[in-house]
Amino acid sequence: MKVLAFLGSPRRNGNTARLLKELLKGVSEKSGVTINQVYLQENKILGCTGCGYCETSTGCKLEDDMQNIYPILKEADVLIFATPVYWWSMSSQLKALIDRFYALKISEIKSKKIYLLMTYGGSLPNSGAELVERTFRDIFKYIGWELVKVYGACTDEYMPVEQNAEALKEVYEIGRSI
Ligand SMILES: Cc1cc2nc3c(=O)[nH]c(=O)nc-3n(C[C@H](O)[C@H](O)[C@H](O)COP(=O)(O)O)c2cc1C
Repeated sequence: MKVLAFLGSPRRNGNTARLLKELLKGVSEKSGVTINQVYLQENKILGCTGCGYCETSTGCKLEDDMQNIYPILKEADVLIFATPVYWWSMSSQLKALIDRFYALKISEIKSKKIYLLMTYGGSLPNSGAELVERTFRDIFKYIGWELVKVYGACTDEYMPVEQNAEALKEVYEIGRSI
């Protein structure tokens, strides 16, 4: 099983990264799993220009790090997206990645199981996490890939993920269940 995880937070050692690390710890304890992790902030991912090239040709003509990501994306069985909530939405790094999915010929690549991890500063409801979840549900319903699990952790100033033992345990168990 090939697992591909995208860290959508620009902070490499922030809350979202910590949550993802613990989930991947759970995954790594399973046998027969390969894990690939992409730190989006370190990759050059241009915004989709809507040029239409991918509608008449194969692939995307933009020359950036997506050309390395497309092959591992196609091969993956499981995709994990980890993002902080930014302005009631996902991070711009993650949005840029997903916009570029437009160039994929979905029917020609293997189906995937999807996991979404979020961290957010505000308490529910109205932190924006609900909107990100809804966005993911609609995107992957449209694509036809199963959104298996959505997990969010509130990280207000009193509870960074590092101190949130319950969240760390729960995402570790999610990782084990993949
Ligand atoms: C630009 C920006 C926008 C944010 N917008 C929201 C928001 O809409 N809702 C919310 O609950 N938290 C918001 N936050 C707080 C972050 O989601 C929260 O601190 C998160 O845990 C940060 O993740 P990180 O430690 O991986 O960077 C925002 C933070 C930043 C920097």
